Amino acid sequence: MTRPPIDPTTTTAWQELAAHHARLVPDLRGWFRADPGRAERLTFDVGDLHVDLSKNLVTDETLALLVRLAEEVGLTERVEAMFRGDRINVTEDRSVLHTALRRPAGATPRLVVGDQDVDADVQAELAKVFAFAERVRSGEWRGVTGEPVRTVVNIGIGGSDLGPVMAYEALAPYVQEGLEVRFVSNIDPTDVARTVADLDPATTLFIVASKTFGTLETLVNARLARAWLWEQLAARGAIDGSETARADAVAHHFVAVSTALDKVAAFGIDPANAFGFWDWVGGRYSVDSAIGTSLAIAIGPERFREFLAGFHAVDEHFRTTPLARNVPALMGLLNVWYVNFLGAHTHAVLPYAQLLHRFPAYLQQLTMESNGKRVRWDGTPVTCDTGEVFWGEPGTNGQHAFYQLIHQGTRLIPADFIAVATPAYPLRDTEGDGADVHELLLANFLAQTAALAFGRTADEVRAEGTREDLVPARVFPGNRPTTSIMAPALTPSVLGQLIALYEHITFVQGIVWGIDSFDQWGVELGKKLALELAPALAGDADALAAQDASTRGLVEYYRAHRR
Ligand code: F6P
Repeated sequence: MTRPPIDPTTTTAWQELAAHHARLVPDLRGWFRADPGRAERLTFDVGDLHVDLSKNLVTDETLALLVRLAEEVGLTERVEAMFRGDRINVTEDRSVLHTALRRPAGATPRLVVGDQDVDADVQAELAKVFAFAERVRSGEWRGVTGEPVRTVVNIGIGGSDLGPVMAYEALAPYVQEGLEVRFVSNIDPTDVARTVADLDPATTLFIVASKTFGTLETLVNARLARAWLWEQLAARGAIDGSETARADAVAHHFVAVSTALDKVAAFGIDPANAFGFWDWVGGRYSVDSAIGTSLAIAIGPERFREFLAGFHAVDEHFRTTPLARNVPALMGLLNVWYVNFLGAHTHAVLPYAQLLHRFPAYLQQLTMESNGKRVRWDGTPVTCDTGEVFWGEPGTNGQHAFYQLIHQGTRLIPADFIAVATPAYPLRDTEGDGADVHELLLANFLAQTAALAFGRTADEVRAEGTREDLVPARVFPGNRPTTSIMAPALTPSVLGQLIALYEHITFVQGIVWGIDSFDQWGVELGKKLALELAPALAGDADALAAQDASTRGLVEYYRAHRR
């Protein structure tokens, strides 16, 4: 029986944080000037991640109070409960064990939950995924015409897409030559049509990735892909139209990843070609399960193991490090500070690493599907704001688009800056001054965080010779909070570490707010209404009549204009 959440706003720490906030005058310039040890004291290493929290709007007292808040809401106990496999996903009555997916083989003591030997099951499924990945990579797995796979198309959406595509992009330099992975997610027919348009069906393998195997988008796209495969193979004379030939084509060109293996079989995919996982892995926490099969094919089992080891390093840090030095805990608490005491509505994540260009999109599902909640895990209303909007784009592109608002707008936007020391492509501007281009990128990374923190005063602007009437527009107020995260290079392990870091940050915030970060009931209503609306779009007068006036008008517009 899960205990009811503790209302954070009733804790002593919350009251003291409120009083502290009322007294606090953020002054990063002054704080850095007066305290030469600030940067060092507020910089932490977790695994390979070097995390500098010193440019946040906090003093030692703020952090101590935030840690007390975590203690008062029982964070440590909840962390243990998660790792142990307690059913902390209360509204779905499930354990939350994505951390089990990355436990190394032979970890002790063994993780057994109820009657499931979790470690044994995880390793067995991983072995199956890896054996399959090796068969594809080596060319042993052949299509109906006897040709090896050149393109893998992952069909999935949400957690069955965002994690794999983000990681595939991030680890592009590790992808086996001659192999490509593409991703289809949207039910917009454009997505699948464009993705397969130039593919050779004989060398294409589809992975249908769906935890539930009931998601409309994925099932429709899988059927479209299957129809395309049959049609294209038949057009090339590779198969005839018989049932047997079609089934054979599916057996050679379709595999699946799901927790619902019965539904996989009903789709026509041989269960022997299906990889499973468990209901205790949330979709948005599943890139390190069999949902990552496309990634395992692309980068290979050895690199995938490194990826998992990266997650595990951060899991261990999170589970065992005292809160005052626990990086995911501190970062989650900082987010609570910004949301609940400083009124932040959004949080930017700004990778200074082009390969991480899908990382913000991935984080949007992780953080917003997890913490966008208005009731707590016992069904009572939340007692404070929850769930900030996460967003971002790679630097320096963002600098030329939305940084203006972060620097000089009226809203507080905490931002995480992410960079690596060694680039994947160490190019020099040989036609220019010979500069190491990665250093130009890093110079921007450093310049932005410094400008945001320390700003530029009116006197400094005047001292540059600026005309008096232009001074106000050129002042940078500073005290815009940032966290800088650096790593040696974007390796599979570092990527795993980054993902685990944000998973646990999200969890920490959810625990403080008393919400179930592992359900997602908010996505259900729209799905149900879409099913009711489809007949109206297709011309069913009764279905149309049942709609509100606005929806009816839009459907009528569609029907009048559809060619
Ligand atoms: O609609 C939201 C959601 O349930 C996500 O949580 C999930 O990642 C996504 O849909 C896809 O679900 P599935 O993997 O079951 O197809």
